[in-house]
Amino acid sequence: MTQDQKGRASRESADVVVLGAGPAGLLLGNLLLAAGVDCVILERATRTHVLNRARAGFLAPNTVRILDRHGLADGLHRDGRTHGTCEFRTADGRFRLDYGTLGRGERHTVYPQQNLVSDLLERYAEAGGRIRFDTEALAVQDASGRHPHVIAREPDGRPVRWDGRYVAGCDGRHGCARRSLPPNAVRHRHDHGVSWLGLLAEAPPSLDAVGYAVHDRGFAGHMARGPHVTRYYLQCRRGFSADSWSEERIWEELDLRMRAEEYGPLRRGPIIERGVVDLTCDVVEPLRHGSLLLAGDAASLTAPAAAKGANLAVLEAELLAEALTGALRRNDEAGLDRYSARSLAFIWRAQEFTQWMTGLLHAIPGQERSEGSFFHASLRRARLDSLRTSRAHQDWFAENYVGV
Ligand code: APR
Repeated sequence: MTQDQKGRASRESADVVVLGAGPAGLLLGNLLLAAGVDCVILERATRTHVLNRARAGFLAPNTVRILDRHGLADGLHRDGRTHGTCEFRTADGRFRLDYGTLGRGERHTVYPQQNLVSDLLERYAEAGGRIRFDTEALAVQDASGRHPHVIAREPDGRPVRWDGRYVAGCDGRHGCARRSLPPNAVRHRHDHGVSWLGLLAEAPPSLDAVGYAVHDRGFAGHMARGPHVTRYYLQCRRGFSADSWSEERIWEELDLRMRAEEYGPLRRGPIIERGVVDLTCDVVEPLRHGSLLLAGDAASLTAPAAAKGANLAVLEAELLAEALTGALRRNDEAGLDRYSARSLAFIWRAQEFTQWMTGLLHAIPGQERSEGSFFHASLRRARLDSLRTSRAHQDWFAENYVGV
């Protein structure tokens, strides 16, 4: 580090400056390090916060294959468990799809994301990787010029300039990389018009499957997060306040929508976390702007209905690592030229399936008010009936539900 005499921004450098220590940034850092590429990760949160941030962990088989390929899957093979069943509860009855026996016969690996992040962080540190916590990237500058660099704020508040050959924006939807995109960057946005009250209950799972309840009162979801913790979702109106319902009211609504009277009571417990999420999605195009490249949520955001986010982040991190390694180790930018188109092909497939899934599970507000409310409700029942009865539809569902 060179300290400027007048106390201005100190200067550091790395061939690749990675913004963000989530799944995308940490996997990218590990793969670059393994390929002998000089990099640094700048992470605005503290190490403790990064390690304790609880996130879903529904890993697609392709994600497991990527982590296996690079020797980063020990933790998930030790502590992960496979999952292959979802249960739909509808006005016409309930049915289960053992998607692990449908389509390509593949199953999810359930492994809490904070465990994956911890594994990646530990391996990166063991390999001598440079990471700066509590260091917020403020701007990516000259990305299309000859001296790309990142202006960041160090833990003590002092500015620092990181010079780099490339900057990898893995800092999520609200990160610095997106704010630094040039005017020609296109951001496709879509609002599904649906919101979820997300709940974490200190209670054992009530089903041995991912539960999707389609009800006139709104969608309800059930996802195990471990033997003693279960995630529930309740569709709510836009602007709903997470604290407006008592725990009793929440369990009553979950019982109603999951038809507990017909299919058995839900296992209750204290609600230890609650929050409202609006189901929206967006895609940035292209994903490369000169020396700035985007991966993970910085590149695209999918609605949570089909758990695609972390799996896309892993896939894009591997593609980007290969491309950056080609550019920096073999002076071949062909991979970087293809990176955006290759990643966007996967992103749009995931967006399409998530859009279909969101439309299957929810009465979209606004549709009820139109004259087509009965029309849309009947469409949804027909789709569910097809999914219940058609093997071909079930194979298509399984392939897209698990695939990336
Ligand atoms: N400077 C440095 N770091 C930043 C900045 C910034 N300006 N802004 C955000 N970050 C950090 C966040 O603190 C976070 O650790 O970037 C990281 C982004 O991580 P994620 O949000 O996990 O995004 P990503 O790695 O793309 O993973 C995508 O994983 O988080 C799950 O399901 C979620 O779909 C998401 C997926």
